[in-house]
Amino acid sequence: MTALLTSPTARVKWLAAPSSAAWLEQALAHPELVLIDHAHCERKAAGVALQLMFRYPSDAELGALLSPLAREELEHFEQVLQLLQGRGTPLRPLPAPAYGATLTAAVRRGEPQRMLDSFLVAGLIEARSHERMALLAAHSPDAALRDLYGTLLASEARHFGLYWLLAEGRYGREVTVARLEELAAVEVQALSGELASVEAVRMHSVGVERAGSGTP
Ligand SMILES: [Fe+2]
Ligand SMILES: [Fe+2]
Repeated sequence: MTALLTSPTARVKWLAAPSSAAWLEQALAHPELVLIDHAHCERKAAGVALQLMFRYPSDAELGALLSPLAREELEHFEQVLQLLQGRGTPLRPLPAPAYGATLTAAVRRGEPQRMLDSFLVAGLIEARSHERMALLAAHSPDAALRDLYGTLLASEARHFGLYWLLAEGRYGREVTVARLEELAAVEVQALSGELASVEAVRMHSVGVERAGSGTP
């Protein structure tokens, strides 16, 4: 399975636009908010994998792939929690950006489309997390945060590769790529616009380069 997950097929390009310099600047200015939000993201990523296992309980392949993924996300959650606790920062609820809800709303209701869209939405979220964690790992002035984001990166890359393989294996490359392009456009739309306030910065708050804007 490891060989499959690192195959060229798994390295498909997911994101339709890169994150903006403005997002990185906002995230670096509020590392604690992003870290708390990140803990919630890991918990939610485990929940997404579990939800799929509950929705399709007799699907052995799906269970075999998603159960370890869910466990890994919970381990990430614990790692972030430990760092927060070490800093005396309590985990607290944070209002989520519209991102997740916007993507979930794009999932078609009837099967088999619902399953395909669910895989692709989960993969897109993983891909964006991976991209933004890479930015934080490269640019955080805080060494502990650089380390944390740096160690989590490889898993997130594996996770979107895994969702890709689940989608392509069942729906074929042509159908999967066509739908991924549509959902990737929704994902960029969900990250477009201006941040309402500095406290609204999150792992998936707005901030993407506009196509053709030419600004970094
Ligand atoms: Fe994770
Ligand atoms: Fe992940």
